Amino acid sequence: MRVTICSNEAAVAKEAYKLVRDRVVNQGAKVLGLPTGSSPIKLYGEMVAGYQRKEIDFSDVHTFNLDEYLGLPVEHEQSYRNFMNTNLFNHVNLKADNIHFLDGMTDDLDSECMAYEGKMEDLGGIKLQILGIGRDGHIGFNEPGTPLYSRTGYVTLAAETIEDNKRFFKSADEVPRWALSMGVGTILDAREILMIATGSNKADAIAGMIEGPITSMNTASALQLHNEVNIIIDEAAASKLTRKEYYKKTGGSANVADMYAYLMAARKKAGLD
Ligand code: GLP
Repeated sequence: MRVTICSNEAAVAKEAYKLVRDRVVNQGAKVLGLPTGSSPIKLYGEMVAGYQRKEIDFSDVHTFNLDEYLGLPVEHEQSYRNFMNTNLFNHVNLKADNIHFLDGMTDDLDSECMAYEGKMEDLGGIKLQILGIGRDGHIGFNEPGTPLYSRTGYVTLAAETIEDNKRFFKSADEVPRWALSMGVGTILDAREILMIATGSNKADAIAGMIEGPITSMNTASALQLHNEVNIIIDEAAASKLTRKEYYKKTGGSANVADMYAYLMAARKKAGLD
């Protein structure tokens, strides 16, 4: 896991955007997995600004969103599809047919979930999966206790998540109790993962994910099993990491440049160059 600690939320978004742009523009990552929540809002703002500056083009990009509430029509203000339209889709040149979303109003949950996995497979799998994290360590809507090999399916929201998400609804009673979500196993199939998190309310979940045991009680901890994970967080979200200074020294990409400089100097000294 590569951990980058930034001074604040704006810096997290800029750093995350740099990575997204690099993967889409330079590395041909044309299938993206996308999250909702407050965490990615600034990153989506950067992506829109980058598109307007003509730095990034989405015309041949496909997107798969992580999850959707059960029982909310697309037009509902709090549906995740509506959130994505408002924060990203309406402002960039993604083709409507290339936007893939779980249908929270389907009358056949199993077929809907299986078809979603099938579409991902047909497109060669997700190249870059962007994630936020819940206060209880959930990724997508994979709440504590979800099997770490789970595939796209329907899930029951934890009380903590309903409490956290009620801020977007008139009351906690209006928050749907269920959702459709990519599974932890589905997320782990992505070629690369980018996790972003900010704020002290995420500090426990982040510490558990990076330094805790791999456990379904913090489904994000399953990312320890993945070989290509970038975690970009602010100081507040990093505040409970015991090895924070180590990540600061070694976590960023500058480390590779430093390493090569050291190696080249050592080669020169040994008369190899
Ligand atoms: C929701 C979403 C998650 C998201 C989490 C954190 O439950 N299903 O994908 O990561 O909230 O949200 P926020 O970024 O608003 O803290």
